Amino acid sequence: MLMYTLLFFPLLIQNVIVNGDEWGYKDSNGPHTWQGVCAEGFRQSPIDIRSTDVDYAMMPKIHFVHYHRSGSVTLTNNGHSITANGFDSWEENQPYIYGGGLKHKYKLVQFHMHWAQTNDKGSEHTLGTLSYPVEVHFVHMKEGNTMNQSLHEPDGLAVVGVFLTLGNDGTGMSMLDSSLKSVQDNKESNIIHGYRPRALLPTNTDSFYRYDGSLTTPGCFESVIWTILAEPVSITEAQLASLRRIKTPESVPFEYNYRPVQPLNGRRVLYRPGTFDRSMLCTENSVTAQSLFGAIALFIGAHLFNF
Ligand SMILES: *[C@@H]1O[C@H](CO)[C@@H](O)[C@H](O)[C@H]1NC(C)=O
Ligand SMILES: [Zn+2]
Repeated sequence: MLMYTLLFFPLLIQNVIVNGDEWGYKDSNGPHTWQGVCAEGFRQSPIDIRSTDVDYAMMPKIHFVHYHRSGSVTLTNNGHSITANGFDSWEENQPYIYGGGLKHKYKLVQFHMHWAQTNDKGSEHTLGTLSYPVEVHFVHMKEGNTMNQSLHEPDGLAVVGVFLTLGNDGTGMSMLDSSLKSVQDNKESNIIHGYRPRALLPTNTDSFYRYDGSLTTPGCFESVIWTILAEPVSITEAQLASLRRIKTPESVPFEYNYRPVQPLNGRRVLYRPGTFDRSMLCTENSVTAQSLFGAIALFIGAHLFNF
């Protein structure tokens, strides 16, 4: 099981050949050249999250279990991104998620990142066309499944997306700092001991977007229940700079490694408001109630004058 998920997942995702070249983000092998489900699917990811496509929904909270635990992970430059693997060897401490409207328990298999060379792009999902500089993907597999089973089920995977935003606080990325330098070149990897995945989640995970989509890399399997956390995590200028020094198999820094947004094709996006939004909604409601009351008073007043 351990070897299966460790080895099979990267193999399946990497060995897709485009124009005789492995897939990537260059003109010759980039997203517009990806074939199969990537080109022909109807629930592809990422998407632009626009307010007109979003419905407020009463979903329960997501529970991030064992995310605060620490253990060893292997950080690898796999030629497409940097990926942290090894959570399946944490055994009873393997992080997992449940709740949040998910029908199953999903175990953390790996996380990786998407970025670009400037702050105005980088994330895969966008909010009203706006990008964050980085998006982290925590990939979870349905409990009891093999990776192959999960890839072929409409809800086999649950991926949690976390936006990183430029700020002064570098604690979210600090455990990766020194390792980023040692995985600059393609195929390099580095073992990090005592890694805690909770560090890369925002303090508040109450508020999120939810929709049905796909992997954002070939073969673009339509097997992902997406959760995009609304609250971003801070990354410093220096940390962004180290991420931007990560090199492609051609030994140049990635210009970008995000896929552009895909058509919704009628899908709706659910939104779970956080406590802050709820209190704002209540305030708005009471304001609305007051102005409605005022309008009724004016209306009655006007009629009184008329009579
Ligand atoms: C993967 O799963 C699909 C669908 O369940 C099946 O047809 C295929 O044979 C499986 N492949 C492997 C390598 O197990
Ligand atoms: Zn991803």
